[in-house]
Amino acid sequence: MKKKILVTGGLGFIGSHTVVCLHEAGFEPIIIDNLSNSQMSAMDGIKSLIGFEPTFVNANVNDKEVLAQLIIDHKPEAIIHFAAFKAVGESVEKPLMYYENNVVGLISVLEVMKEQVISNLVFSSSCTVYGEPDQVPVLETTPTKPAQSPYGATKQMGEIILKDNAAWCKTQCLRYFNPIGAHPTAALGELPLGIPNNLIPFLTQTVAGLRNELTVFGNDYDTPDGTCIRDYIHVMDLAEAHVKAVERLVHNKQEENFEVFNIGTGNGFSVLEVIQSFEKENNINVPHKIGPRRAGDVVKVWADTTKVNEVLGWTAKRGLDEMMRDSWNWQLKLQNN
Ligand code: UFG
Repeated sequence: MKKKILVTGGLGFIGSHTVVCLHEAGFEPIIIDNLSNSQMSAMDGIKSLIGFEPTFVNANVNDKEVLAQLIIDHKPEAIIHFAAFKAVGESVEKPLMYYENNVVGLISVLEVMKEQVISNLVFSSSCTVYGEPDQVPVLETTPTKPAQSPYGATKQMGEIILKDNAAWCKTQCLRYFNPIGAHPTAALGELPLGIPNNLIPFLTQTVAGLRNELTVFGNDYDTPDGTCIRDYIHVMDLAEAHVKAVERLVHNKQEENFEVFNIGTGNGFSVLEVIQSFEKENNINVPHKIGPRRAGDVVKVWADTTKVNEVLGWTAKRGLDEMMRDSWNWQLKLQNN
């Protein structure tokens, strides 16, 4: 019988791709998602890729009764906890909403896990915990910096809570760098609500004619071309990292109960390099202008991936050009629907 994996937020951007990869790796994904930042169309995409609709419950993870019943009914071997809010700016405006969803939500998941004697968890953390690092690339041992936003604080708190519960809960804590791209078939991708804050959805919407122009936030940083540098990672690579983390948990390969991994490519690209790659790969011009810096932006951050490559046995396979191609194909698919 297939091992079941409970995926909270399984209809979101990273969750939906991970559901497909879990199925392909021989697991049975069970989804709980309250559709607060996702849409049922993601289920159509999942169905088209795996050939059937996985078990899905429309509920908030803070609803402990529903969560407990789901666990009793399915007895998952592990939980991947994606369900969380992720917009930095919004978290500044609505901090309580972020603490409620991201911190109380995690505590709720842990309480139910403890009660139901489930002890394998994969947690969505973020490179935001490193803040503006003193040195790049960042290692998992690089000291974290005070959070720049309530969103960042919720990820740091999540890590602390999980470390403090490591006596009974085995955790794979994955620090994502900048997830972009889409499923290569364009069956799944990111569905940003309203005006996107992130570079790639804003860029693809601009090229699609939905926005006038992309603003590059600052070109006077201390980087080779003056624009900020990030480690962009294809969402399919990220999804595959979750499968590796689940396999490590269910096969009891963890060396320590609380393990942290950087999930990036190890390569940093500037905003202008991203635009150039998009233009070259898709043979389309990206209307853009240089604007002022955006408050709170980190100048440069990219991952040292030695630990994740060697210990988790995972390496990102897809390059920036592929990310640009898949992001654009996804935007075209959205336009044509
Ligand atoms: N950028 C622009 N113009 C835009 C949007 C972004 O120039 O319209 C630039 C930003 O200034 C930055 C880069 O593109 O230099 C990437 O910006 P994103 O908003 O796409 O991503 P961030 O690196 O700011 O944030 C991401 C995630 C957060 C996470 C953070 C950790 O969205 O959830 O990485 O560093 F916390």
